Amino acid sequence: MTALTLSTAAAPGLRADAIVIGVAKGAKGPVVAPGAEAVDKAYDGGLAGVLETLGASGAEGELTKLPAPAGFKAPLVVAVGLGTEPDAEGGFDAEALRKAAGTAARALAGAKKAAFALPVDGAGALEAIGEGVLLGAYSFDAYKENGGQAKGARAKNGKAPLGEAALLGGKPRDAAHKGAVARAVAVGEELNRARDLVNTPPNDLTPDSFARIVQAAAKEHGLKVQVLDEKALTKGGYGGILGVGGGSAAAPRLVKVAYTHPDAERHLAFVGKGITYDSGGISLKPAGHNETMKCDMAGAAAVFAAVVAAARLGLEANVTGWLALAENMPSGSAVRPGDVLRMYSGKTVEVLNTDAEGRLVLADALWAASQEEPDAIVDVATLTGAMMVALGSRTLGVLANDDAFRTTVYEAAEETGEPAWPMPMPEHLTKGLESQVADMTNVGERWGGGLLAGLFLREFVGEGISWAHLDIAGPAFNEGAPFGYTPKGGTGTAVRTLVRLAELTAEGELG
Ligand code: BES
Ligand code: MN
Ligand code: ZN
Repeated sequence: MTALTLSTAAAPGLRADAIVIGVAKGAKGPVVAPGAEAVDKAYDGGLAGVLETLGASGAEGELTKLPAPAGFKAPLVVAVGLGTEPDAEGGFDAEALRKAAGTAARALAGAKKAAFALPVDGAGALEAIGEGVLLGAYSFDAYKENGGQAKGARAKNGKAPLGEAALLGGKPRDAAHKGAVARAVAVGEELNRARDLVNTPPNDLTPDSFARIVQAAAKEHGLKVQVLDEKALTKGGYGGILGVGGGSAAAPRLVKVAYTHPDAERHLAFVGKGITYDSGGISLKPAGHNETMKCDMAGAAAVFAAVVAAARLGLEANVTGWLALAENMPSGSAVRPGDVLRMYSGKTVEVLNTDAEGRLVLADALWAASQEEPDAIVDVATLTGAMMVALGSRTLGVLANDDAFRTTVYEAAEETGEPAWPMPMPEHLTKGLESQVADMTNVGERWGGGLLAGLFLREFVGEGISWAHLDIAGPAFNEGAPFGYTPKGGTGTAVRTLVRLAELTAEGELG
């Protein structure tokens, strides 16, 4: 992974492959952003004009490469668009910095070292730039020829991610600045870990192999893990997880991974949907709808990554992650449309569509999490295509059993740069869940499918516990071109929101 350092070196003397500078979008063309003064000076103050000549406007995602001025040790200047004007105080929005740093880091694949001379007006800006660099430089090539072999060996067509990023404009001895970089590293690396898990093909990432990865990480970070295998799940009566996992040769697991702090006064629980592959089961998905379904464990990956990040940050809170891991496959032992499952909570569910499997595994995990009576539960799931229809491929939906908590979660998401939107839970839709033979069905009417899924989950949350549900079906997996700090494939969506919620819990501002 890209190494992040704070540097006080002056741009001209810096030995690097490139110097990254920011270009703001001014009313009358591109404006050189603060941080790039030395470069601008070498152009006799004419850098904005040079950039304009080269076609730069300062738009988001825009990249302009120009040779470094004479006397600079680095050969290349990479000017990246910030997409906005500076605010009244001359600063830039954290997300604009994160995206710009990510765009530049992505473009610098193959380079050994780059200096980032983007506008820094404090620790927050440094953190955003650092995060953007780590996320933008990400690449997944464990399955490319030579990939993951010898150190430094690369895929034939791939370039190694940027090796080192020196962030300029901060003070290496300042505690707040050092802390900002440390947080960027912890969050960035864990978020990339979630992306790796999502990108790992489903023949290699099974419920069992996922559980083993969690065990290994837990050992490294001092977390407590408990893995319920198929025997323990049967003994415990986890009918939802067993039902969904029953069709696969790879048996299901429920993994609990807990970070505790000795002085913690609050307990936050995360629950993640971990369908390592969603074929739809007997209600089989058609071709065209199953190619990306390895991403159906993105919720569990985000939960896992957030718990490890909370540990690395040493937050003064107890944070427990519950990963509901199963593979949804059709076979002679698969759950059938028409089967009734007895869930861990004791409720019975008539499965009318085996492709609505996420809510079944989550129901058991939510009920398990509820037994510990945490102050709040947040679940994360690639749950419904309907949420994707409603919000598109970049925005996650937030549902909750409490309006104030929904606002808290929604604001935490927005604050960390994860586009989110609050969604309602219209009571009348629950009528669609009525079953002739069981307590409820797992599907109802089609309209508002993402909201109905939330209403189903709500039935499995313990009395009096604040609960929110993040439907990440859209943003979990980027099928389009990379943008900003978001690569193609697994995105790591929801990790930053969960980490922020854990921080709020530690600060006593949640639950
Ligand atoms: N994993 C899918 C949802 C999904 C769709 C995630 C697209 C990512 C991208 C989920 O298990 C599913 O199949 N949901 C069904 C529910 C329906 C049968 C009620 C859906 O959305 O079609
Ligand atoms: Mn499904
Ligand atoms: Zn699914």
